[in-house]
Amino acid sequence: MARVVVTGKVPAVAVERLRAAHDVDAWDSESPIARGELLSRVQGADAVVSLLTERVDAELLDAAGPQLRVVSNVAVGYNNIDVPACAARGVRVTNTPGVLTDATADIAMALILMVTRRLGEGERVIRSRRPWQWGMFYMLGTGLQGRRLGIVGMGQIGAATARRARSFGMEIAYTKRTPLDGPTAAELGAVHVGLDELLATSDVVSLHCPYSPETHHLIDAARLSSMRRSAYLVNTARGPVVDEAALVDALRAGTIAGAGLDVFEREPEVHEGLLGLDNAVLIPHLGSATVETRTAMADLAATNCLAVLDGREPPNPVG
Ligand code: GLV
Repeated sequence: MARVVVTGKVPAVAVERLRAAHDVDAWDSESPIARGELLSRVQGADAVVSLLTERVDAELLDAAGPQLRVVSNVAVGYNNIDVPACAARGVRVTNTPGVLTDATADIAMALILMVTRRLGEGERVIRSRRPWQWGMFYMLGTGLQGRRLGIVGMGQIGAATARRARSFGMEIAYTKRTPLDGPTAAELGAVHVGLDELLATSDVVSLHCPYSPETHHLIDAARLSSMRRSAYLVNTARGPVVDEAALVDALRAGTIAGAGLDVFEREPEVHEGLLGLDNAVLIPHLGSATVETRTAMADLAATNCLAVLDGREPPNPVG
């Protein structure tokens, strides 16, 4: 029997699967576990099932001890984990791709619609009891038909977003290290371009790349100013892919038309400047937040964890 530490509250079915075979210590509150508590609980763990709110770094790995075999993240993004530090200690790292693709693409599409059609702004008018009246020129937005969606990072979520956008009549351009194969590119009607061209020619830019030192502030002041003044930026990837302070300046100055954000640079903090901007749609990291998706994520994380503990290859290794 191995010792498994689950660092946050996850759907019970996943904890039960782990408990059927192992000794499980699961944090049972929806508030994130305090760092000190986490470091003490992981001592002697053979497996850690982690949430994206927990930093898994050398300090945590040392606190756990040399018997640790796997860190199973309940997320597709794993920038909260120091993968090289895990590899150096022979600790496997796994994530949960696939099961959250549709939910996250739905949120990307929702943000595209919200920001281009000014839905947050409209809601605020009604809720604040300000007077309003249907009018020919009242709160006009931008239609999506025939507009270009630029997908930065055409992985599974990028492709699922492209499919949705196509059904809204959008054209698709994308960046990706290795271009899509012919049939997939044809199915998505997607054109492979460089980042500079994508930013300069897209009406909506949607970010779907992983966060890494390479993508830190990928969208900075210079790149924002290379976008069209009529363009919108949507981020459902990770906050620090965008320089949030530069984005506030760009939204204030009208360098771009608007932004839809599900993720922020210093979550759960949100840049004060964004809060007063009507052309920013702000939602609290809800990409994978459906009952079905969170259950599937926790279940897949349990599968990965159990595979490593049983000496089998996990379905979703990273690094
Ligand atoms: C959510 O943000 C995830 O990476 O799964």
